[in-house]
Amino acid sequence: MRHLLNPLDLSVEELTNVLDLAADIEKNPDKYREVCKHKKLATLFYEPSTRTRLSFESAMINLGGSVIGFSSADSSSASKGESVADTIRVISCYADICAMRHPKEGAPTVAAEFSRIPVINAGDGGHQHPTQTLTDLMTIRSLKGRLDNLTIGFCGDLKFGRTVHSLISALVRHKNIKFILISPEELKIPDHIREDVLIANNIPFEEVTTLDDSLADLDILYMTRVQKERFFNEEEYIRLKDCYILTKEKMEKANENMLILHPLPRVNEISVEIDDDPRAVYFKQVQYGVYVRMALIMTLLGLHV
Ligand code: CP
Repeated sequence: MRHLLNPLDLSVEELTNVLDLAADIEKNPDKYREVCKHKKLATLFYEPSTRTRLSFESAMINLGGSVIGFSSADSSSASKGESVADTIRVISCYADICAMRHPKEGAPTVAAEFSRIPVINAGDGGHQHPTQTLTDLMTIRSLKGRLDNLTIGFCGDLKFGRTVHSLISALVRHKNIKFILISPEELKIPDHIREDVLIANNIPFEEVTTLDDSLADLDILYMTRVQKERFFNEEEYIRLKDCYILTKEKMEKANENMLILHPLPRVNEISVEIDDDPRAVYFKQVQYGVYVRMALIMTLLGLHV
């Protein structure tokens, strides 16, 4: 039985297979309409979500399967004190596969230890978000045609942004990747990514505090929201929340082929006036999220057409 707890749980070859399958699903959706008939997905969301939960549900329904689950800890027996270990033992009796989002880092890993069904980490605290990474990789590969030879700028909350941690960890396995890490001092990339991922793999990277100077050099700009829910101090959040705002004026400095990705939700960090710029692909990114989750469900359940 396979789980997806971390983007590195899939080898590069397995990842390529998932992306190839997702690309085929995009082209031939009807072929996959019944592949999960009589299968159930459980969505166990202890934290709010729009895209991840609903794209998983959409993915399973597109595959002909069914969905059960809860969308907040308050509406589950976690509110009565039930542990993640006990919950997953119970869910293993009801469903064939589950996607779990939890505010505590490592909670899906604990679930996997006690589970009889594949567990997918749908975001754990400020740690990892591997299915967003699959979404981001499919977006880049589909729209740029490659996952190597790229200069990628990550901008905003690089400390708490779990999508950033997961995507960097996955991209370092590809050739000739360079990162420009744009953040205020307070929201710099954590040591475990700087030391154990970037430095350990000899990946070229720069850490800077201004966005404007980097734009001309980037193939991809990955914007992120300042993660309000991870701050202990509201004043600090208010001081930092609008540290970067991508505007039409700033985009004039960017490469004409640069793509703007964002895991969403967006707050203020990308001006809505950019939404019509062909380089703004964050809503296309959302659509790719459904195809890769369909491919992932099939892969973890060992299903083929
Ligand atoms: N990208 C993402 O994780 O969005 P949600 O929080 O809405 O699921």
